Amino acid sequence: MTHPTGGRAVLTPGPQGLAHLELLLAGVCPLPGFMTREEADRLDRPGPPPARAPWPVPVVLTAPDAPADAREVVLADPEGAPLAELTVTEAHRDGTVRLAGPVRPAAAPVYGSLRSLRLPVERVRSARDERRPLLAVVTDRPLHHRALAQVRAALAGLGEADLLVLVDVPLDAEGAAPAVLAARELLPRGTRFAAVTLPTAAADGAPAWPAERRGLLAAHVAAAYGATHVLLELEGAGGAGALADAPVKALSFGEWVYDTARRRWCPADEVAPGNARAEWGADAVAEALARGGPLPAWLTPEPVAAELARMRPARTDRGLVLFFTGLSGSGKSTVARGVAEQVRRAGRTVTLLDGDVVRRLLSSGLTFSRADRDLNIRRIGYVAAEVARHGGVAVCAPIAPYAATRAEVRRMAEETGDFFLVYVATPIEVCEARDRKGLYAKARAGQIPEFTGVSDPYEAPGDADLVIDTSAESEAESVARVVAALRDGGWLPR
Ligand code: ADX
Repeated sequence: MTHPTGGRAVLTPGPQGLAHLELLLAGVCPLPGFMTREEADRLDRPGPPPARAPWPVPVVLTAPDAPADAREVVLADPEGAPLAELTVTEAHRDGTVRLAGPVRPAAAPVYGSLRSLRLPVERVRSARDERRPLLAVVTDRPLHHRALAQVRAALAGLGEADLLVLVDVPLDAEGAAPAVLAARELLPRGTRFAAVTLPTAAADGAPAWPAERRGLLAAHVAAAYGATHVLLELEGAGGAGALADAPVKALSFGEWVYDTARRRWCPADEVAPGNARAEWGADAVAEALARGGPLPAWLTPEPVAAELARMRPARTDRGLVLFFTGLSGSGKSTVARGVAEQVRRAGRTVTLLDGDVVRRLLSSGLTFSRADRDLNIRRIGYVAAEVARHGGVAVCAPIAPYAATRAEVRRMAEETGDFFLVYVATPIEVCEARDRKGLYAKARAGQIPEFTGVSDPYEAPGDADLVIDTSAESEAESVARVVAALRDGGWLPR
């Protein structure tokens, strides 16, 4: 939180706080603002929320460094533009600070992906024909033939009905939206599309809600937009039981399969077992796209398949963050340099972000405290993800001792490309015996505090895609193994 001279405190909420704020400002969430501790606690229990609760989830704002006396707080987007003014009616401390109170819009929001599709509820409600049912489809994934067939079946069952597709996307990325929008021409004329960001937790740092609660939240969002019926295409969300108390009628279909004889999607119990073909899961779709194979026409309509192929090109053309982690002296830099050279020779563009080199410019001035190490890795991750966005290969080789920070980089990279983690597991005794820079000796002598492996932690990865050990094989062999893994995975041409 910052204090501009003479002005009010300015707070940029984290992703969950911003997502809640978006729903408040768009009139989707009917509450005046962020909940007090008591209001939030009432909703924060397992099982269904209390009957007739106006909103099914806690709406909480955390402000790790809020001053206790802040009364009027400007809530700003990550670019620093004011979004809303919060009048603090309660500042509650439990490890972090939670601020409660009503919010007033400050200016029309600009930040956020797909801004033109983030519609205030009034815009949708005023344009709708109240005499007709409105079916809302809430989705965070592409609509393949199965989903589209179910939407058509649902519309047919409702008679004369309108359709609203609410695409759940992150605030800082387009998510599946381009692929969802590609199905526009396959849906009835007049179908409306809107983008929303459904929060996944009560507050930043709080545990994610179970799937049923997410489904119920989606149903409330649909109702706010004027929907009378809702169909959920959200990962794991919406057991029919959990939606019994939803403010709209939740439609659900059992299992549907592709009937190879009739060449259409139908309820599984209407199809002869020999003719039934199951829909592919997200992993199978991802793998087919990674190999560059077109998605089959029985599975996916052509415009959707084309958009997916654009969003997720074959791995040979897709950006990649190749991330080495390991102790100082483990051989990361040498292997990374060797791999970078071969990747370049295979015809791809490469950026090498070596730990020591990064610290001379991009991260110069940072120390080896946990906070500074995390910032260093986030900077590397940010640059690497940008390289991947443009289809390049970013080879990174910092120590990166913390699993949570590596996971953050994975998430950033996978938004725009792929992430491949190589754990350089050379034992510390070997790294220390090599001691190329004499740093271990200094660390043992107490001249370098917080030295990784000596007086500072290293969390060995449990999610490495490949483990190498330069004490058990030559560096050339290690390079060859990494390059072979990249070829096998499809990132380099054969
Ligand atoms: S990280 O922890 O933030 O990922 P990074 O890879 O950038 O570390 O820098 C590690 C390099 O800095 C080591 O190879 C070593 O040469 C040097 N170094 C200096 N002080 C330390 C320290 N306290 N711990 C680890 N490495 C250090």
